[in-house]
Order: sequence, then structure tokens, then C-alpha cells
Amino acid sequence: MEGATQIRQARSQDLEQLLHLEELCFNEESFSRQQLRYLSTRAKADFLLTEEAGEITAFIVLLKRKNSSGLRIYSLAVSPRHRGKGLARLLLAEAGKRAQTYGISYLTLEVSAFNEPAVCLYKQQGFEVFGERPAYYKNGSKALLMRKKVG
Ligand SMILES: CC(C)(COP(=O)(O)OP(=O)(O)OC[C@H]1O[C@@H](n2cnc3c(N)ncnc32)[C@H](O)[C@@H]1OP(=O)(O)O)[C@@H](O)C(=O)NCCC(=O)NCCS
Repeated sequence: MEGATQIRQARSQDLEQLLHLEELCFNEESFSRQQLRYLSTRAKADFLLTEEAGEITAFIVLLKRKNSSGLRIYSLAVSPRHRGKGLARLLLAEAGKRAQTYGISYLTLEVSAFNEPAVCLYKQQGFEVFGERPAYYKNGSKALLMRKKVG
């Protein structure tokens, strides 16, 4: 499955499907149409997705920041119908490759401590917790700051 799946950059025509996927995955903390449009056109962002038979199955947004040693994973979402088959792992591997291409040594991210699938995913993929932000999300959960060395 992973081997056959293609990753490509998001385009403006993808916006409606991305918005739908975003709402399915993130409920009250989802990006708006404007935020998604901005991210998909922003020069300092990589907005990458996977697609199967015309259906967008997953996406990842990576942010480069000036003078930062980290490439930030700003969002990662997999369609509920396509979970458990390695798509998140595939997109994280691509993020690691991009970081190395940019000469960046870390992947970084923030994740809710309540988001067990995501925390398990990141730990399994070699990310470590290096900080916390208390009561960071609307549901009161703290954010875990995680990073992985790639370079
Ligand atoms: C978290 C999420 C991205 C995982 O995507 P996925 O494509 O299903 O994950 P993968 O199939 O690549 O799983 C890779 C590893 O992650 C871990 N993992 C994934 N889902 C898990 C779950 N529900 N429970 C525990 N571990 C899980 C496993 O270790 C898995 O390895 P394995 O298949 O060998 O057991 C997906 O559930 C999702 O989109 N959730 C909603 C959005 C979200 O929370 N995004 C992250 C915000 S920071």
C-alpha cells in the first residue's frame, strides 16, 4: 500500500476535499477554508497529500521558519476510512526527507496529550517529548511539544 501511494503538492482545486477532510478529522479546532487556502499557497509551507482514485486520503502541512533548526508539522490528517494502513507513516517519512533536503535537522510538532492515536504514532515514529503547554486546547488538554532528529 505505502509503496504504491503517490504524494503530491496540494492545488487550489483540492480545497473543497481538503476542507471536508479537515472537518472530519478535527471537529472544533479545524482550519477554515481561508486558512487552508493560505497554507496551500504560502511559499514557506509544504502542503502535501495522498490520493486514491481521485479521493484525497491524507495530508500533511509543513512549515519552514527563518533561522529555525526545525521543520514544523503544522497539521497531519488521514481520512477515517483510510486509517491504519500506513498513510501517516508515509507522510512523516516524506517530511523527514524534505527536512534533510532543506538542511533542517529536526521535525517538530505540537499534539494534544488527549490524542492517543497521534501520540502513539509520533512515539512509534521516533519523536520525543521536549516540552509542554498546559491547558493549550479548547478541551483543556495540554499540548505536548515533540521533535525528532532527522539530519
Ligand atoms: C493519528 C493519525 C494521523 C494516524 O494516521 P494513520 O494513517 O491511521 O496511521 P498509520 O497507519 O500510518 O500508523 C502508523 C503507526 O501509528 C500508530 N497508530 C496509528 N493509529 C493508532 C491508534 N488509533 N492507536 C494507537 N496507535 C496508532 C501505530 O503505532 C501505527 O503503527 P502499526 O500500524 O505498525 O501499529 C489519524 O488517526 C488521524 O488523522 N487522526 C485525526 C487527526 C489527528 O489527530 N492528527 C494529528 C494531529 S497532531
